[in-house]
Amino acid sequence: MKVLVVGATGTVGRAVVQALKAHGTSVIAASRTPEVHVFPQGVSGVRFDYDDDGSVATAMAGADRCFVVAPPGLRDQARRWANTFAAAARAGVQHAVVMTAMGATEDTPHGQGEARLRESGLPWTVLRPRFFAQNFITYSGESIRRDHAFYYPAGAGRTAYIDVRDIAEVAATVLANPSVHIGKGYDLTGPAELSMHDVAASLSAAVGRPIQYVDPGGEGYKRALLDSGAPADIATMFTHLYDVVVRQGWAGGTTEDVAQVLGRPATAFDDFVRAHVDAWR
Ligand SMILES: NC(=O)c1ccc[n+]([C@@H]2O[C@H](COP(=O)([O-])OP(=O)(O)OC[C@H]3O[C@@H](n4cnc5c(N)ncnc54)[C@H](OP(=O)(O)O)[C@@H]3O)[C@@H](O)[C@H]2O)c1
Repeated sequence: MKVLVVGATGTVGRAVVQALKAHGTSVIAASRTPEVHVFPQGVSGVRFDYDDDGSVATAMAGADRCFVVAPPGLRDQARRWANTFAAAARAGVQHAVVMTAMGATEDTPHGQGEARLRESGLPWTVLRPRFFAQNFITYSGESIRRDHAFYYPAGAGRTAYIDVRDIAEVAATVLANPSVHIGKGYDLTGPAELSMHDVAASLSAAVGRPIQYVDPGGEGYKRALLDSGAPADIATMFTHLYDVVVRQGWAGGTTEDVAQVLGRPATAFDDFVRAHVDAWR
């Protein structure tokens, strides 16, 4: 059984490759530039670019199952995913595990992408994670190391950050045993809601120096994103996520879906922090 992992060089995809390998599954890692990446031993690379339908068809032709993720802010996601799922169906792919995001409604790209998946005829499972714990490395690691601070317009809003390694373990478990999971969607959260102040306290305790949460306000955050070179629509989307979704409490709550699939609780944020403490030193 060969699993094609789309986005295999990204935060989630890398973890999914590792988890599949640990399950003894044969993995094909997809990237726009597989030739420049060193994949783990035994993992082969294949070219896959949402902008090139031929590359999508060729990559799917070599797979029995697939894990699909979109890069943040993928333009025209519903059409690109429709092409991807059609190519997978034509290639006889038996199961697609597709990651969107918790709270993806029909008027969002992820929600529209899920609709294309259901229409495709492919056997599917959808994973909808909450905000990643790894965001405090990917997006905030640099400012934490430099300023001992991180910046989001989230006020006192709380959300249950999920460790990407848990998402990956769920994906690998679902791909190993499709019949139990086909046609299901899982909302994946960490075990407890945390405010940004709670996050700062957890990071400070593990790293051993004060790390501060700073709320720059929606406008200040958006301006900083634009100044750092983010496209306007991406800056607007990220600002909305924190200034509205988290700040207003729309991203609250926890689920038991990680425990249901894995038979163990989701990773606690403090445990995630302790496992990655060097990232902030
Ligand atoms: N961050 C969060 O808190 C959060 C929460 C819930 C859901 N999500 C969702 O998670 C997804 C992002 O996952 P991630 O953090 O793992 O992303 P990431 O680290 O930015 O990686 C994106 C991957 O997509 C690939 N890619 C970029 N453009 C591509 C294209 N045109 N065709 C094919 N592949 C392309 C990149 O590979 P190459 O450069 O090698 O081609 C890379 O491996 C988004 O859909 C986001 O909405 C994020």
